[in-house]
Amino acid sequence: MNDWIEYYDSPHTIYVSKLHRDVHFRTIARDIVGYIPSKHSVVLDYACGEALSAETVADACGRLILAEPAPGVRGRLVVRFAPNTKIRVRSLDELRHMDEKSVDLAVMNSVAQYMTPDALDAAFAVIRRLLKPAGRLVLGDILQPNVGLSGDVIALLRFAAKHGFVKDALRGLARTALSDYRQLRTRIGLQRYNEAEMLAKLAAAGFTATRTPANIGHNPSRMTFVARLAFERGRNADAAS
Ligand SMILES: C[S@@+](CC[C@H](N)C(=O)[O-])C[C@H]1O[C@@H](n2cnc3c(N)ncnc32)[C@H](O)[C@@H]1O
Repeated sequence: MNDWIEYYDSPHTIYVSKLHRDVHFRTIARDIVGYIPSKHSVVLDYACGEALSAETVADACGRLILAEPAPGVRGRLVVRFAPNTKIRVRSLDELRHMDEKSVDLAVMNSVAQYMTPDALDAAFAVIRRLLKPAGRLVLGDILQPNVGLSGDVIALLRFAAKHGFVKDALRGLARTALSDYRQLRTRIGLQRYNEAEMLAKLAAAGFTATRTPANIGHNPSRMTFVARLAFERGRNADAAS
């Protein structure tokens, strides 16, 4: 196992049970829907994973583009969502060939921690090109430097208590301690940013951003940012004055 994309393309145990996986994706979909500006919006879910509740998101927008780097996951997305004409599945490379200024909302949730800082900058550039002038990037589940594995464990147990899978969560945590996940987390690590670092990184990529009060998903120790194109915002403000 060499990297996180390979990990997510393997039969991993990051979700401790089917119920955990299902409520995870339902929660993410509900939170994404909250950011969709209109029923006609074009929404991009960047590195969407299995996106089991993508139809909920598609119902709330005009078109949903599911972009995923892991080829096996992507193959399942293609089959799963073939009947839904609002959903398109793309590789991350294919995003480079999409029309510029064609996306109203881009979401990148729980992905930045798996990318090198340079790879994240490159992803921001791709998204920047795709966003319409008034479009938004929602960047969720950013790990902070001061919150370790114990913060993730507590968040998972709270989520499990709420949805009735505590036993599976405890078993899953024991399994994870011996798994490829633990090895990769120790060997490759996860990228962490504090609030100021992420705001500066987004600014360097051409966005003005703010941190939202609540994170996407179940882990309140992680951060979500909403970013707009810096130049276009300035220009719109000038035009309005
Ligand atoms: C924890 S899953 C998140 C999936 C989904 N966005 C969600 O919120 O449930 C991490 C995702 O990041 C992708 N990923 C892992 N390493 C990556 C990398 N270096 N570049 C881009 N995506 C990556 C994986 O393929 C997987 O889809």
